[in-house]
Formats: sequence, C-alpha cells, structure tokens
Amino acid sequence: SATKVTKICCIGAGYVGGPTCAVIALKCPHIKVTIVDLNQARIDAWNSPDFKLPIYEPGLEDVVRQARGRNLFFTTEVDKGIQEADLIFVSVNTPTKKSGVGAGFAADLNYVELATRRIAAVANSSKIVVEKSTVPCRTAESMRTILEANSKPNCRFDILSNPEFLAEGTAISDLFKPDRVLIGSLQTAEGKAACEALASVYANWVPTDRILTVGLWSSELSKLAANAMLAQRISSINALSAICEATGANIDEVAHAVGYDSRVGPKFLRASVGFGGSCFQKDILNLVYLSESLHLPEVAEYWKQVVTMNEYQKRRFSKTVVDTLFNTITGKRIAVLGFAFKADTGDTRESPAITLIRDFQSENARVNIYDPQVEHEQIWADLAEASPATPLANIQKQVSICKSALEACKDAEAVVVATEWKEFRDIDWEAVYKGMNKPAFVFDGRLIVDAERLRKIGFKVTTIGRGERV
Ligand code: UDX
Ligand code: UDX
Ligand code: ADP
Repeated sequence: SATKVTKICCIGAGYVGGPTCAVIALKCPHIKVTIVDLNQARIDAWNSPDFKLPIYEPGLEDVVRQARGRNLFFTTEVDKGIQEADLIFVSVNTPTKKSGVGAGFAADLNYVELATRRIAAVANSSKIVVEKSTVPCRTAESMRTILEANSKPNCRFDILSNPEFLAEGTAISDLFKPDRVLIGSLQTAEGKAACEALASVYANWVPTDRILTVGLWSSELSKLAANAMLAQRISSINALSAICEATGANIDEVAHAVGYDSRVGPKFLRASVGFGGSCFQKDILNLVYLSESLHLPEVAEYWKQVVTMNEYQKRRFSKTVVDTLFNTITGKRIAVLGFAFKADTGDTRESPAITLIRDFQSENARVNIYDPQVEHEQIWADLAEASPATPLANIQKQVSICKSALEACKDAEAVVVATEWKEFRDIDWEAVYKGMNKPAFVFDGRLIVDAERLRKIGFKVTTIGRGERV
C-alpha cells in the first residue's frame, strides 16, 4: 500500500521550490513542509518578520503568512530536513552549462547531483525522491543510480518526476488551479505506489482527473516539450510580425484571426520584443542537445530555430529604434520602461531588456531604466554580465536607473516599452511628452500602449507587428 506522506522536505528555496511548497503547506495543513536551502540570506528573507520575501509573486505573501510557523518552515539545516521527511522535492537550479561538454546547450546538473548525493549520504529511512527542477530526459535515472549505489539497509529510494508548470507572475493562481499535475514513475509496483503517495498530496486540492500519471521519461520529456511548443508559438507569431511590418498587415488582427481556430487556440500569441525567462531558452537548448546526442540532427535544427528567431526579433527591434532615430542614437537618451522578463515578476533571467540595453550602449546612447520591481543591484549585475569587457563604472556613466517612468522619460528622445507592466498603459503620457525632446518617439515592444492616443498627443509611435509607423 502507498506510503502516507506526513513530512515533506523541499531542497531549494527558489522561484519553483518556494511557491510550490508554500502552496502544498497551505492546502495540506496535516503535512509538515520544510523548505531547505544552502543560501542563508535567502532563507532569512523567507523567514523575515515583515514578510520581505526573496521573490516577488502576487499572492505569495498571503500564502506564506497563513502557513509559515504552522506547518511551513524555512531553514538551512539541509540534513535534518532530509532525515525527517518521507518525501523530498529536489528543486535546485539547473542553469545552462557555461563550459565543458555541451557548453551553451546542456543543463548543468551539478546542483541536482550534489543534492542527490546529500540525500543518499544522510538519509536513515526510506524516501520518495521527487525531481521537480526542469532537467533533461533521463536525469531521474541518474538520480536513481546514485541513490541505489549509496543506499543503506532498510533504506529504499523511489524516484518520481513531477515537473512544475507554473509561470512567474501567476505562480500562486497556477498552483491553486493547475491545468494539470504530471507525475512520472517507473511502472513497477513500488514506482506506482510512490506515484500514488504523491498524487494523494495533490488530491487535497487538485481534481483527480487533472492529475496525470505517466512513465518517468515521458514526464521528463513532456516538460521540455511543453516549454518548447509554447516558445515556438511566440517565435512563430514574432516571425509573422516581421512580415506584418513589411507589408502593412497588423499582427494583432492576424493573431486574433488565427487564434479563433479552435485547433490553434487564442492564448500565447502576443507578438513581442522576444521571450525571456529562465525556462524557454534553456529548455529548448536542452532539447537541441538531447536531439544531437541521440543523432537526430534534423530534429535539433528544427528546435534551434525557435531560439534563433528569438535572437533575431530582439536584434530587429533595436535596429528599428536606431533606423527610426535617423540612423544614429549616439549621445541620445533612451528611456527603457521595464527590465523584468515579463510583467508581475522581479525576475530578470534572459530578459530581452538586457539585450536591447546592451545594443543601445554599444551605439553610445544614454539609457534611463525604470522597472517597478527589479532590484537595482540586479540590473547592474545583468548589465555587467552582458558587457564583460566594459568596467561597471563605465556602464554607469552611460546608464541610469530611475524611480519612476516619468523620471526615466525626462529629456529622452525615445521611450522603449520592454516589459508589459500594466502601469505603462496608464502613465500620464501628456506629462511624459512635455518632458521629452522633440520629435518624441515611442517604441512599443509589448503591444500595450494605445498608439492612436499617443499619436494624438504628438508622439511618433512604432509598434511591433504594425506596418504603419509614426
Ligand atoms: C514558462 C511556462 O509558461 C511555464 O509553464 C513553465 O513552467 C516555465 O516557463 P515563465 O517563463 O515564467 O513560464 O513565463 P511565461 O508567461 O511563459 O513567459 C515567458 C516569456 O514569453 C516572457 O518573456 C513573456 O513576456 C513572453 N511571452 C509570453 C510573449 O512574448 N508572448 C506571449 O504571448 C506570451
Ligand atoms: C487544411 C486546414 O485544416 C484547413 O483549415 C484549410 O482550409 C485547408 O487545409 P486539410 O488539408 O483538408 O485542411 O486537412 P487537415 O485536417 O488540416 O489535415 C492536413 C494533413 O495533416 C493531413 O494529411 C492530416 O492527416 C495531417 N495531420 C493533421 C496530422 O498528421 N496530425 C494532426 O494532428 C492533424
Ligand atoms: P528555480 O528557478 O529553478 O527555482 P532558483 O535559482 O531560484 O531556481 O533556486 C534554486 C535554489 O536551490 C537556490 O536558492 C540554491 O541556493 C538552492 N540550492 C542549490 N543546490 C542546493 C543544495 N545542494 N542544497 C540546498 N539548496 C540548494
């Protein structure tokens, strides 16, 4: 019969582990949930008395307020957390490798392996170990080999794959009402029992017909596939946006018409300056690497094109800015509104804003940045990483971080909307116009401003995917 889960440990208190296990704690008051991390500062922030949590996510604070100290705990005592638990989520980071075999493509599984080895080293009772981080196909198998090679008598380890599909900015509502929960297991009696044990945790709030159980490898591949297909939709619509700009068609109208086909569906067809985030590019490159390792070069090439198109879209956008500003932006001031990779998050991983600003810097423009959530330290770190040859002090001579959109736009020649924050729709555009140099340009990389209204004020407006300019 299936183990009844009463104590859960989550290794990794990041964007995935934190919100996911906080929601499990909220929805399962009878389960003790302990989230562990090696990073003391991060754990301190999760424990902060005034709830200054390490990540910004709408609704998260409320969840943590209700569960923390009741059955939800944050600690750096990793070993103790592992020993107490009957089920362990591994939610550590899996960045793209920066050197060695597969550099630039393969996932760096070092953190997963270290966490797995730690479990093997300190566990003194049987555990269900759940792979939660997005990892390449067959990682669960490696985890199983490590655990089995190091297990003690009376200590059995069952491995499950349970990829997380939450999107940042809507993490809490995604977790409350997931489209589906996917659990992969070995198709053995023990594997199925472990799967049952985890399914019964989710069944506390997720309807059972939304809990899908599949084989281990199907589960791992489904996560990569879902992200690759979502990103592919954006690259497809962005490729069409280039045709729209060249012909005078309107990408909103095209996306609307195409999305009305129930076989295509209306969601995730918003043209943009390019997708960002920690998952899409990383997961596609993983899929490319996997395909190459399996000697499937045509398959690898197919998926790689999704990333190539995204790079093209970002480059195309910065080129449009330069072209429209009379082919030079040297010494001109450009206000970049938004630095996060999407609205409602403070996360900047792979944010298209980073690439745009680097392009503007290399044309010797001056750049003012405003984002309602991103920490200033993070912006400097990202810009330094994007221009490794330039000392930060030099970057800071060219770039300023501002406290409001209005301040960022003061004395600028152009405004670039890089993130779809709702507040950018409702800025006092008349006041922005007054403060800018003329002609005043707006480049909407997110299809959020009302171009007609802005033109009435006097702006020259360029929108992604619209043929008509200024
Ligand atoms: C994504 C997946 O949606 C989620 O299921 C998975 O678990 C993790 O990866 P996330 O990266 O957090 O989530 O955000 P998402 O909403 O998917 O947006 C990714 C990027 O695509 C953002 O930069 C966003 O602005 C962009 N995007 C999204 C578009 O440009 N157009 C769209 O229509 C949708
Ligand atoms: C298509 C469009 O569906 C239709 O809207 C348009 O007006 C004309 O082109 P059609 O070619 O008649 O219609 O058939 P469709 O059902 O789209 O199938 C096209 C091909 O795709 C077929 O060979 C079908 O077997 C194949 N297909 C379809 C798949 O291989 N997998 C699928 O999931 C769906
Ligand atoms: P994700 O977006 O996948 O959640 P993050 O980088 O936000 O990734 O979070 C991963 C967390 O995992 C980090 O806070 C990191 O300190 C933590 N971590 C990595 N390796 C270990 C480990 N062996 N033990 C405990 N925590 C770890």
